[in-house]
Amino acid sequence: MDQTNSLFEFARSVFTNQDVDSLLIQISGAVERMTNSEAASILLLDADKKQLTFRAATGEKGKTMKRFYVPVGQGVAGWVAQNGRPLIIQDVQSDTRFTGKIDKSSGFSTRSIMALPLFANGDLIGVCEALNKIEGIFTESDQQILQSLSALAGVAIHNARVTEEYRNFFSRSIEIMATAIEGADTKMTGHSYRVAELTCRLGHQLGVVGDEYRDLYYAGLLHDIGMVSLHDLRYLPRVINQTIQRTPDKLHPLIGAELVKDIRLLAQISPVIRHHHEFFDGSGHPDGLVGDDIPFHSRIIGFVEQLDEIFMNGAIGEEFEKEAIKKAERGVGTKFDPQVVEAYLQLTKKSNAA
Ligand SMILES: [Fe+2]
Ligand SMILES: [Fe+2]
Repeated sequence: MDQTNSLFEFARSVFTNQDVDSLLIQISGAVERMTNSEAASILLLDADKKQLTFRAATGEKGKTMKRFYVPVGQGVAGWVAQNGRPLIIQDVQSDTRFTGKIDKSSGFSTRSIMALPLFANGDLIGVCEALNKIEGIFTESDQQILQSLSALAGVAIHNARVTEEYRNFFSRSIEIMATAIEGADTKMTGHSYRVAELTCRLGHQLGVVGDEYRDLYYAGLLHDIGMVSLHDLRYLPRVINQTIQRTPDKLHPLIGAELVKDIRLLAQISPVIRHHHEFFDGSGHPDGLVGDDIPFHSRIIGFVEQLDEIFMNGAIGEEFEKEAIKKAERGVGTKFDPQVVEAYLQLTKKSNAA
């Protein structure tokens, strides 16, 4: 594959990778390959911008490098970070910027280095190095290749970091929302998390995987989100059917579904929340859905929520399990989906056998 094709291939693969650590491994591998070097490493600046930490390294000592760091201003990488300029050293023994400290600790023997600053969104974020040119010396064309790789890598790292920050923001916000639900009533303390936890265990038992599993977790955490807005008049006119007077308990699935439906990443759990109080035989609310017409995730959450009432009434440990099994068996096919009850019974059997 020629260098241009390799660069296109590199660009295509790094922009589809949103995990920073595996992205860095991918980038260092490409640097090693495309500059025909013995090893390559990526060092990223720490938050206080005072030192660079090895985040990915290839070559025979690659695995041991991760525990090393270089203060900005020291050694070759530190010089590149401080000056924001590339540096090629064909013979490290003749350059005072090379300290040899990392070689001593890692056991790697550096002969030549080509290092470039990594920028993301205009800010210096680290340094990318190619070590020991396999044949001959590092050339202008090697530097151009490393420059192209570094430019692409900087954008990809920036994108992956932003994605990670959004993910973190999203999941933390949801957990804060779940805690807010519990603030509505002291009896509810821990309810959302317990429901989410058992819901996920049941989901796993029932073969729910991937994005569906993540959605099931969020729906478990937020199933009672409507409780926080029960007295919010903005939502009431929208969800109350004019001919039916609903009690507050019957309103919360409707308000909850309304609250999340405009959040794009949560829109798919809106119907799950709306129907988590439906019963398998059609005797639930708000729509009296029957059997498979009730969303599958609602059937799981609805069942778990009913079991958690036993816990909220004070039963724990063996007493909880006994009552839970009794309640589950009593409700098979009427309140609860038989396959969900079956999965729960299997789960309790498994944990008792363990
Ligand atoms: Fe509920
Ligand atoms: Fe609940």
